[in-house]
Amino acid sequence: MYDGGKIIAGIIIGLALLTFPIWYTSGRAAPKPEVKLPVKEKECVQPGPYMKKKHMQVLDLWRDSVVRVQQRSYVAFNGKEYDMSLQNTCMSADCHAKKSEFCDRCHNYTGVVPYCWDCHIPPKEKPEEKH
Ligand code: HEC
Ligand code: HEC
Repeated sequence: MYDGGKIIAGIIIGLALLTFPIWYTSGRAAPKPEVKLPVKEKECVQPGPYMKKKHMQVLDLWRDSVVRVQQRSYVAFNGKEYDMSLQNTCMSADCHAKKSEFCDRCHNYTGVVPYCWDCHIPPKEKPEEKH
């Protein structure tokens, strides 16, 4: 004999379990990554919020000026002059020396994979020190 009630209850429980990952995670996103800002330098070449939105355009501008018009010097918003270099300026020891803790954390979160590192060399990072 079939027990209709048990079958229906079984189907409902089965469906609930099957769709669990959908409703359990709905409306939630992975927690925002924590990016580590430079310790030594307090200011970037443009204010932080601007860099957050526009760093790709700034980098493109730098590349085009260096490669196309041989202009290597950039006057920052605070009047300081910088060499327009991804490796030597952005990724210098005093600035974003740890690509993995800054660029990568945010790019991994947002699913961005810049191809720059096919050619440009990221800074060498020491493996985390064990305590
Ligand atoms: C706070 C988050 C965040 C951080 C930190 C960050 N980026 Fe990005 N970056 C993004 C996002 C988001 C995009 C994609 C923007 C878009 O597609 O409009 C992006 C895009 C780029 C692009 C353009 C890639 C392409 O294929 O168009 C470059 C180049 C880039 N980032 C370089 C860097 C470098 C170098 C660093 C570290 C020094 C860095 N970013 C740090 C968020 C970040
Ligand atoms: C196919 C190889 C290649 C790729 C990929 C590449 N570059 Fe370059 N880039 C170069 C070369 C070569 C130069 C010239 C180096 C010089 O004259 O100092 C350069 C110069 C630059 C410069 C100015 C000089 C310097 O030292 O940084 C910037 C800024 C730059 N590239 C940014 C980028 C960014 C941002 C990306 C990714 C969106 C990128 N590049 C991808 C090869 C590449």
